[in-house]
Amino acid sequence: MALLNAQGVTKRFGGLLANDSVDLAVEEGQIVGLIGPNGAGKTTFFNCLSGHLVPDAGTIIFNGRDITRWPAHRVAQAGIARTFQLVKSMGGLTVEENVMIGAFARVDDREEARRKARQVLELVGLLDVADMYPGELPLAVQKQMELARALATEPKLLMLDEVAAGLSPEEIEGFAGLLRKIHREKGLAMLVIEHVMEFVLPLSERVYVLAGGRKIAEGTPDEITNHPAVIEAYLGEGYARAHKR
Ligand SMILES: Nc1ncnc2c1ncn2[C@@H]1O[C@H](COP(=O)(O)OP(=O)(O)O)[C@@H](O)[C@H]1O
Ligand SMILES: [Mg+2]
Repeated sequence: MALLNAQGVTKRFGGLLANDSVDLAVEEGQIVGLIGPNGAGKTTFFNCLSGHLVPDAGTIIFNGRDITRWPAHRVAQAGIARTFQLVKSMGGLTVEENVMIGAFARVDDREEARRKARQVLELVGLLDVADMYPGELPLAVQKQMELARALATEPKLLMLDEVAAGLSPEEIEGFAGLLRKIHREKGLAMLVIEHVMEFVLPLSERVYVLAGGRKIAEGTPDEITNHPAVIEAYLGEGYARAHKR
């Protein structure tokens, strides 16, 4: 049985069908990419999964439980963690305190939360900025902090919404290496929304493509880059030619 099995997820905003019966599955320990043009409905789909939005229809089964319409804090406790397209940090809190917020999903004790936060900060390489404030730090570091906060909830599934956006090629490479290391060490499943194909395709075992709220394709990264509907809706002929094998 898949770790995550979303079926028929549908979300309307007034007359706009932002998610039109989307099916998606993530196996235990698998890294899955979710790509598609701006406005395709990728973030909306994340919001439906993470409990930040209530879907109009569909079923979300996670780790053997029906979590459809659960509020965000319950979904987090069930083991789904996410980052946001625009980093959400508490400016008045230090990096360590921001990560402790994640840890409080699992522990009540402040010192225990601090210990957990420091463990995760070490894993992502941020221990030396633990006492700084997010606003003083570059975007790439803020994104690593958000990743650390998500990891501190001890998820089974980590969902990342455009972590590579706004980063330099070197920073993107660093982030990919970090995700690989985390995947190796923790065996975490990941669902990764991304526009930077050089980042998401080598990382993903399987890729889903959304366009206009609907799933238009799914397959291996190779199948996706050669898929006519994906080339037309998203990648473009130029991309396909440059990456032809
Ligand atoms: N809270 C909202 N209220 C109204 N429309 C929204 C809301 N969130 C997203 N949309 C619309 O839904 C569509 C899908 O958006 P989104 O899920 O953010 O796409 P993506 O993440 O793929 O770029 C877009 O047309 C967007 O304008
Ligand atoms: Mg988005």
